[in-house]
Amino acid sequence: MRPTNMMMKKHTIGIGADYRQDLRRLIASALQNRQECSAVEGLELCRSTLGEEEFLAAVDVLLDGHLTMGPQTEAFEAEWSAWLPTDFSLMVNSGSSANLLMLSALTFPGNPDGLRPGDEVILPAVGWSTSLFPISQTGCVPVLVDVDRDTLNLSPEKVEEAVTDKTRAILAIHLLGNPCDIPALQTIADRHGLYLLEDCCEAHGASIEGRRVGTFGALAAFSFYYSHHMTSIEGGMVCGQDRSTWRDGLVSQRAHGWIRGRSDRDQWAKNYPDIDPRWLFATTGYNVRPTDLNAAIGRAQLRKLSGFIEQRVAIRRRLLDRLRPYESWLAVQRELPGHSHAAFGLSLMVRPDAPFGRKKLQAFLEARRIETRPIVGGNFARQPVMGHVPHRCSGLLANADLVHCNGLMIGNHADLTAAQEDHLIACIAEFMESHALRAA
Ligand SMILES: Cc1ncc(COP(=O)(O)O)c(C=O)c1O
Repeated sequence: MRPTNMMMKKHTIGIGADYRQDLRRLIASALQNRQECSAVEGLELCRSTLGEEEFLAAVDVLLDGHLTMGPQTEAFEAEWSAWLPTDFSLMVNSGSSANLLMLSALTFPGNPDGLRPGDEVILPAVGWSTSLFPISQTGCVPVLVDVDRDTLNLSPEKVEEAVTDKTRAILAIHLLGNPCDIPALQTIADRHGLYLLEDCCEAHGASIEGRRVGTFGALAAFSFYYSHHMTSIEGGMVCGQDRSTWRDGLVSQRAHGWIRGRSDRDQWAKNYPDIDPRWLFATTGYNVRPTDLNAAIGRAQLRKLSGFIEQRVAIRRRLLDRLRPYESWLAVQRELPGHSHAAFGLSLMVRPDAPFGRKKLQAFLEARRIETRPIVGGNFARQPVMGHVPHRCSGLLANADLVHCNGLMIGNHADLTAAQEDHLIACIAEFMESHALRAA
């Protein structure tokens, strides 16, 4: 008998239970193999945390055939909103896109309280490229403000000094997982009638007095790039506490500017009967949609997220304890009282009076297979691209310069081994002792 379409479909679905067991075995053995091959004493900036569950979830999506944004994305958004917790979340294809949508929502001409071309948005001088670029891409002017020397986050005093009558928003970046001084920034925002936005791309699970970052600002952005606390490979989330103000606009801007997925789509359709509602465009927009493949992986990772964060935090605490003997030459990032650091990475700042420079320490570590990188983008005002981006620097940015010239970052990840921790500390001890001897 020749199989009918119906039977073929049944056959595809019918492989369910068996294929999952076989696949799980195959994936487990492949992962084991990979772990053995990569058991090194060096330290990478990032490492895959994808396990059997993520691989199976991805295969399920591929077999299911619903590949583009769909039910997995919706479920991930609901689960992320419950985890944070927040009123609504919208998944996008990266943290950069999440930042872009935040600024686009704020500057959309249809938003009566929105920002207008030439309005200023304050952000820290130490930050990431795609925290800053959306500000100018949406017609506003980024104002770079110095960071606090200990927290490496926006200095509230410097923010206050930077406010002018053109200032409309503050973009707080929780650098390397360290929560910003949100209470102080919120006070400034309230006093001057500014929007407060949060870039939490490095700060999943960081909190202030038990409340997670990403729940303070009007809108917040997260990244699920693979070096972050959890990953969907590429991916991001825009979150907000006030669905009625923001969600529909963000939904349109995520996907072409059309009305699909908006709560008010029926009203739009009714108002424009001559336009096919499937191709009815309400706002400007992009295509920054995720795929269900990313969302399914994200969902499996979210179930492990609290564990990942705990592990990263414990590793950072141990490393900070063991680095204490060297603190007269090496400064680490400090969190404020009541703030809980999410330990994205470990920052080391060579103090200006140390008998060696950052580059020397970096070369020493790299030669011993410890990967390093600058602290995020360094002082972003110094990046050549800023020659093409209209912006303003408020004051001297002296601490950002220190980060730029003296700072380096070492990766942290949930399954860093005790041997890797020991290797890092042994290398730093060796380096320090050689200089102490020479300095004596
Ligand atoms: C502070 C910050 N904002 C935004 C981003 C952009 O996120 P993505 O790489 O997912 O685009 C990053 C990237 O790591 C980041 O560190």
